[in-house]
Amino acid sequence: MIPPGRPDSRSKAVKETLSAPAFSKQVLDWFDRRGRKHLPWQQSRDPYRIWVSEIMLQQTRVNTVIDYFERFMQAFPDMAALAQAEPDRVMHHWSGLGYYSRARNLHRSAGLVMERHRGELPNDIEALQALPGIGRSTAGAIRSLAFGKFAPILDGNVKRVLARCFTIEGWPGQSRVLRHLWQLSEALTPRQRTADYNQAMMDLGATVCVRGKPACTVCPIVASCRAHAQGDVSRYPAPKPGKKLPVRESRLLILVDSAGEILLERRPPSGIWGGLWSLPECPPERTLQEWCRSELGYEVDRERFLTPRRHSFSHFHLDISPVVVQVKKPVKGIMDAGARVWYNLSRPDDRGLAAPVSRILQEIKPSHAD
Ligand code: ADE
Repeated sequence: MIPPGRPDSRSKAVKETLSAPAFSKQVLDWFDRRGRKHLPWQQSRDPYRIWVSEIMLQQTRVNTVIDYFERFMQAFPDMAALAQAEPDRVMHHWSGLGYYSRARNLHRSAGLVMERHRGELPNDIEALQALPGIGRSTAGAIRSLAFGKFAPILDGNVKRVLARCFTIEGWPGQSRVLRHLWQLSEALTPRQRTADYNQAMMDLGATVCVRGKPACTVCPIVASCRAHAQGDVSRYPAPKPGKKLPVRESRLLILVDSAGEILLERRPPSGIWGGLWSLPECPPERTLQEWCRSELGYEVDRERFLTPRRHSFSHFHLDISPVVVQVKKPVKGIMDAGARVWYNLSRPDDRGLAAPVSRILQEIKPSHAD
């Protein structure tokens, strides 16, 4: 069983424990359907090509890397060609990719591979990590993708996927957090099809479980994701302590009708709280009464301001000002059945609520119909 990030009992999905084989099966099924399989470095298991691609991909997106990779391979088709090349020529072919120490390390490593390993990249983690520019995760990627052997990986994308799925608290730069993430990665990585699994996890982090606007509705592991079940995906992984994050403001309306029910709105599939149920948000430049009338079709009867609170995401703070708004009968029916529902607090259902919304609803439960 997978060790949890912290105890939680808020949702049914969270209570379910997931076995490592079930987790990797979901990831591999997604890889079979959606994974990238036609990139230039995926067309052979040539360790040299895979190593160069992994170094290029360390800080740079796949789409940017493709052209550089093709040109680099034409200029330096194998380890010997790279080892013998003039440093300036190597830098010339890296020009524009950035993080130039990667190119210097690549060139130095090619010389070392010629000296130490007769021109063949080694397949064990320690020998790989002894080469400049290869850390534990890159060594794991090369060992699995080029040699088909078992090795966990943990690049920035995989850290984000795991931190969210298992609600791992803390900044991944801290050694305690990093150790926990490596343990998880190791426990989850399957011994069969390790290469496909590792590629899928990197692709999942790069294309679905992205930092700003995760696309949870198309995520293959959403049903097992603790952060999603808590409506708190964007909180993970935690930013570096002390980092100054921008602040956004949001006025959330708890619209209560004459039957004491509360209006919920489903968030768009991507962005914060993607696909979860939240409260209507009145833009700062609009007055509450006018906005309720024109956007929702309700006339405001009374309003009550709750204590403002801060909800922090990995990349910004959201200062929420909740307002309980008692409404009269609708002036006109503006209800989008798929995206809005009246929610009965005394008969809550299993719908996924954004975490701060869930807390606000708990708070007003005894008195919402005042
Ligand atoms: N980042 C590092 N290695 C990668 C890979 N093989 N595919 C996609 N992104 C990556």
